[in-house]
Amino acid sequence: MVSTCTVFAPALMGFGASEQIGAKCSELGIKKVILVTDAGVEKAGLTKGIEKSLTDVGIEFVVFRDVVPDPTDVSIIAAGDVARAAKVEAVIGIGGGSALDTAKGVNVLMGNPSPLSDYYLGGKPTQPGLPLFLLPTTGGTGSESTISAVITDTTQKRKTAIRSKNCNVSTLAIIDPGLQMGMPLFLTALTGIDAFAHSAESLTVNKPNPICDALGKESLRFLVQYLPRAINDGSDKEAREHVAYAATLGGMCIANTLVHYGHCFGHSIGAKLHLPHGLGVGHAVAQAINYVADAIPEQVRQVGIAMGVDLSGCATGEAIGRKVGEAIIKFKADIKLPTLKESGATREQVLSAAPLVLRDGCYPFAAKPMTDEMVKIYLDKIYDNVL
Ligand SMILES: NC(=O)c1ccc[n+]([C@@H]2O[C@H](COP(=O)([O-])OP(=O)(O)OC[C@H]3O[C@@H](n4cnc5c(N)ncnc54)[C@H](O)[C@@H]3O)[C@@H](O)[C@H]2O)c1
Ligand SMILES: [Zn+2]
Repeated sequence: MVSTCTVFAPALMGFGASEQIGAKCSELGIKKVILVTDAGVEKAGLTKGIEKSLTDVGIEFVVFRDVVPDPTDVSIIAAGDVARAAKVEAVIGIGGGSALDTAKGVNVLMGNPSPLSDYYLGGKPTQPGLPLFLLPTTGGTGSESTISAVITDTTQKRKTAIRSKNCNVSTLAIIDPGLQMGMPLFLTALTGIDAFAHSAESLTVNKPNPICDALGKESLRFLVQYLPRAINDGSDKEAREHVAYAATLGGMCIANTLVHYGHCFGHSIGAKLHLPHGLGVGHAVAQAINYVADAIPEQVRQVGIAMGVDLSGCATGEAIGRKVGEAIIKFKADIKLPTLKESGATREQVLSAAPLVLRDGCYPFAAKPMTDEMVKIYLDKIYDNVL
């Protein structure tokens, strides 16, 4: 099979890396920037070091702190207006996926004419934006290394995306695990399982890619070893560091291969129940991997091997899928991820997501099709947290 791997965002990594943002902007002759963030990230004190680093080298900045979760077109356009009025020369996103995707949306608007909606899936920004620096504070969506900005289209009341190598690939991703040390337990679990889903689903799409397979397996190995440690002790620097890198690796994978049923179900459940991205996706990934196992047993085996699952004696795709699926369910318990039921969802609410699942943008990347009837059966399984 011929597959492609074309997207790589340059990265600066390690504790304290974010303090080099000023110097990195100076190297490019940048004099004025916009910081795109949200109130929670600012309140956690995570923008302070970045502001100091910019001030130290004489770079002016304006702050847009009104990023909303599941960022809306309205909020991105407002941030773009601030950036344009201030005549900034670079865009810096600092926060979780919502802030980073807002920064990407701003960058689209800095290089290309309005309206933003012209560039939703199917449309492409033709002009490059400004230099783009992305600093993740969750570990995470991997947005710092993907080409997608996931956007809530308030007119159509749906999630869409802008996929652009021109405007959305960071000039420099700065992965400073220090920015993730203070993440509360629940946020650590739900962003960590999202990273897990990216890597596991990338390995099991219809067109996997040998380079992303290698990155994805290392990402899974890090997550299985270090995410439970980060959950048990948020001050464990080694654990936080490995989870941060695992998330970026997951982003590198999905930038090239995309994802499948975990995200089809997760997006749909999340949209109906207004759940965080990681919670919807995190509870669909075990069933997603199990479902495709008879179509691509060797790829699912790779997921299991990376997780350290003993697959000796598993001769069929079904057997491999079941063992790996069970290991993922156990992993979710290890990281104390509340089930959908524990999160307050009802079975009826979860089942109401059925019409959305096969219309999701990730469905074309699934290794085998699913019927509407199977979608309902799988929503039941996801709600019951069984395979
Ligand atoms: N672009 C991509 O490739 C991609 C991939 C996956 C998901 N996403 C998108 O990313 C978004 C979800 O991002 P997310 O899960 O990172 O959450 P988020 O960015 O929505 O942040 C959630 C909350 O966590 C807080 N927060 C962030 N970092 C913190 C920290 N270190 N300490 C304390 N609080 C902190 C924020 O203030 C916010 O209130 C969704 O819109 C999803 O669709 C994008
Ligand atoms: Zn995701």
